[in-house]
Amino acid sequence: QNNAPVTFTDPDSGITFNSWGLAANSPQTKGGFTFGVALPSDALETDATEFIGYLQCARNDESGWCGVSLGGPMTNTLLITAWPNEDTVYTSLRFATGYAMPEVYKGDAEITQVSSSVNSTHFNVIFRCQNCLQWSHGGASGGASTSGGALVLGWVQAFADPGNPTCPDEITLEQHDNGMGIWGAQLNSDAANPSYTEWAAQATKTVT
Ligand code: HEM
Repeated sequence: QNNAPVTFTDPDSGITFNSWGLAANSPQTKGGFTFGVALPSDALETDATEFIGYLQCARNDESGWCGVSLGGPMTNTLLITAWPNEDTVYTSLRFATGYAMPEVYKGDAEITQVSSSVNSTHFNVIFRCQNCLQWSHGGASGGASTSGGALVLGWVQAFADPGNPTCPDEITLEQHDNGMGIWGAQLNSDAANPSYTEWAAQATKTVT
């Protein structure tokens, strides 16, 4: 996993991301994995509460799910779980107090999508994640600070599909088995952009 960010712009939305990833032929995860963030214009000076995320995750034999930990480890941080079903990419915000099936997150964070795509080998989703950088769940609270110029993030991929895939609050998961890790995600000046508000307004699709 690179620590220094790679900047890229999604051609359809025009959104510019700092991103970190593992190549498709990486020994750490079959099919590769990329996560990116775009942040509000002042996020490198004042801690942001939200971001626009980019996820590209692997499908193997047309199945699988992936996840990101917004604090690094699996436990006691906000988790984003994502998977495709037919042409739709679903997400579920989760929280784990131990290394077992995470609970539905009880805080007020919300995901709305800008765009998504699914093919036989990968799925992508670009999403706005509001109230996602500070979390509170059953007495456990914490957050990720953007003003320090870096995030600590975790990634995970799994080969099997979730159970109940069209009902995000009701999914069942097997323990992930296509790699996991924690990385220091450095942010550069491309991460925070004056166009953030305009980009965030493109997130009009709620998938539930
Ligand atoms: C690590 C179990 C779901 C994110 C681990 C580990 C276990 C585990 C046992 C430690 C493995 C090791 O160190 O060798 C499970 C089970 C799950 C589940 C049983 C569901 C049934 C999730 C989900 C996410 C996630 C949904 C994120 C969306 C992570 C991450 C790590 C990890 C980032 C590596 C960092 C760490 O060790 O804390 N998981 N997990 N897990 N898990 Fe999960």
